[in-house]
Amino acid sequence: MALNWPYENRGGYLYVDGVSALDAARRFGTPLYLYSENMIRRQYRRISEAFSKQYPKTRILYAAKANTNLSILRALREEGAEIDAVSPGEVHAALHAGYRPGQILFTGTSVGLDELLYLLDAGVRMNVDSESQLDSLLEQEVPEMVSVRVNPEVGAGHHEHVITAGYEAKFGVWDEDAIGVYAKAKRAGVKRFGVQMHIGSGNLDVGNYLLAAKRLLEVAGHVRRETGVEFDFVDLGGGLGVPYKPGERQVDLDAFFGELVSFIKGELERRDLGEPELWFEPGRFLVAEAGVLLTRVTTVKRNPKRKFVGVDAGFNTLVRPAMYGSYHHILAASAMDEPEEVVDVYGPLCESGDLFARDRRLPQVSEGALLAIMNAGAYGFSMASRYNSRPLPAEVMVGDGEARLIRGRETLGDLLGGQC
Ligand code: LLP
Repeated sequence: MALNWPYENRGGYLYVDGVSALDAARRFGTPLYLYSENMIRRQYRRISEAFSKQYPKTRILYAAKANTNLSILRALREEGAEIDAVSPGEVHAALHAGYRPGQILFTGTSVGLDELLYLLDAGVRMNVDSESQLDSLLEQEVPEMVSVRVNPEVGAGHHEHVITAGYEAKFGVWDEDAIGVYAKAKRAGVKRFGVQMHIGSGNLDVGNYLLAAKRLLEVAGHVRRETGVEFDFVDLGGGLGVPYKPGERQVDLDAFFGELVSFIKGELERRDLGEPELWFEPGRFLVAEAGVLLTRVTTVKRNPKRKFVGVDAGFNTLVRPAMYGSYHHILAASAMDEPEEVVDVYGPLCESGDLFARDRRLPQVSEGALLAIMNAGAYGFSMASRYNSRPLPAEVMVGDGEARLIRGRETLGDLLGGQC
């Protein structure tokens, strides 16, 4: 099996990095996000080694949108990560977790003036998404460094909502406009430059990265020729996928970066782009598989055609199945060795789309059993909501048999906060 999860089946019970899922659920309640710190650190080391092996100057920027829990941000900072942030809130969290402003690259689209003022005040690096964003920036101040997000025309992702390049995507500066944007920044007195792309999310193949990188470096080459701008860095964005289903393969990191970086080196040389740093912005890859969502079975019922297992997590807790039709593997954390049956797993929200799995083979469970929804570390808590007036769940970090609460569960009182 290609899956990479930090779990064990001990006598029919799920353990995550040495911690009993059942004990954690009893101690902290459900629904509950559990993360393996060891696995997050391991993923960082794997990707950073595979990338840096291929090129002398690389950086990994963690795409904080995948999970902004401070303990995760801190663990990745200790490993050497920097940050890709897309909102003042993410910048605020990263600063709080100890990142220096110069380690944070802000890549926002449709950025308001109040947000821009916050970002400039914080002193983070800016990656602009449009000429008008550059104009607003230059009206406030002339930063030492500006990077431009270029739309490399080639997009790819696990669902149309997460494809972020190409004609249909709202992101980035189009190639023929890039020269004008860099020229304007240079005229205004900007001294140092970067170029960035992000093609989309959940990609297991290097092919689309190669096509997009080709376009990106073509654009960078034109900019270099026409404006004399030199690039300090080329940021390839994130988007590396992980297996979600048993049988799905993992990306071979050495092959992926070997092919991508050797192609980029050739293009840099051919286009006289010097030897800029190469940056990569993984989100999902670092945290998805390290996270498990524990949820308690509240109801088992049938109609003439289907059997339903009702749980206490819903799309308020993990929206990916409802939003993208994403598959998340489910384990019966308290009944792993029971015989299997076919069921639908649904949540407590008043919508039929509040469904984690349709026709899923799962060990037989009864009310009170515990389920574990896998690969919940990325875009799980970070996309959770209070829909149906349900408080946000708690988060727990596990490691080497120990569990610690890293975000307390919201209370009903929290739902009323800020209202009069
Ligand atoms: N860099 C930029 C500029 C991004 O917009 C993103 C993701 C990343 C890096 C990291 O992508 P990753 O390595 O995590 O694929 N909510 C969706 C994913 C949306 C990703 C948006 N941008 C999901 O649950 O699949």
